[in-house]
Amino acid sequence: MTQLDLHYTDPRLVDLYDIENPPGPDFDFFRQLAEALQAQHIVDLGCGTGLLTRQLAVDGRAVTGVDPAAAMLAYARRQPGAERVTWIEGDSYALGTPAADLVLMTSNVAQVFLDDDEWAATLRHIHAALRPGGHLAFESRNPADRAWERWNPETTLARLETPHGPVETWLEVVGEANGRVHFRGHNIFKNTGEDEVVASTLRFRSHAEISASLREAGFTVAQVYGSWEKRLFEETNRMMIFVARRD
Ligand SMILES: C[S@@+](CC[C@H](N)C(=O)[O-])C[C@H]1O[C@@H](n2cnc3c(N)ncnc32)[C@H](O)[C@@H]1O
Repeated sequence: MTQLDLHYTDPRLVDLYDIENPPGPDFDFFRQLAEALQAQHIVDLGCGTGLLTRQLAVDGRAVTGVDPAAAMLAYARRQPGAERVTWIEGDSYALGTPAADLVLMTSNVAQVFLDDDEWAATLRHIHAALRPGGHLAFESRNPADRAWERWNPETTLARLETPHGPVETWLEVVGEANGRVHFRGHNIFKNTGEDEVVASTLRFRSHAEISASLREAGFTVAQVYGSWEKRLFEETNRMMIFVARRD
């Protein structure tokens, strides 16, 4: 498995995650999708701190959050409503065959799978975890938009109020090759001046690559949106939101 980013393994950085990534239109999209599909059994793969996972766990639904980062899961388990979710520490190998109605990978989890073999195995495991006719939904940044070219200290600078005092965060790109973008996230804890630097890599797969990998794993691509407002995907869109159905 690809090594986990410090963002997900260092409890102090985990405490910043929900502050940096508050609920947005993505949450509305996935909640509405779950309702439209009448999904009673949902698996959130790469659930992280579980902010959305807990919101999905309503009305007697069975919701499972799966993540390999122990610190993210420990945070998730401490939050209000955590008892409504089954939490599993692991990656897609831990999914099993629960005949789920819907599997989600939210906030670009699809981009953490750097190798094609790892991505293909993940899709196969998700396929096995769904009931026939069940759905997989996730988003991934469109490489044609070259988002990383906009990631620099000025455009990404954020000042956060956190349990660890004020923190300044920003990104710098280190390099790009073979569909992988390497970058560093800086986290300056203002009370001490310490800069905790996190090295990350994300994989940018194209619409065609993702569609082919889904078909290969036994899915039909039901829909690809280019925005959370459900505009159909166009080549210039920043993101690709895939909804695929298990054959
Ligand atoms: C950007 S966070 C997204 C968290 C959450 N889905 C959200 O919407 O906020 C990426 C998550 O993917 C998890 N992750 C990393 N490698 C993974 C893998 N091989 N399988 C599943 N999840 C993984 C990380 O631990 C982290 O919690």
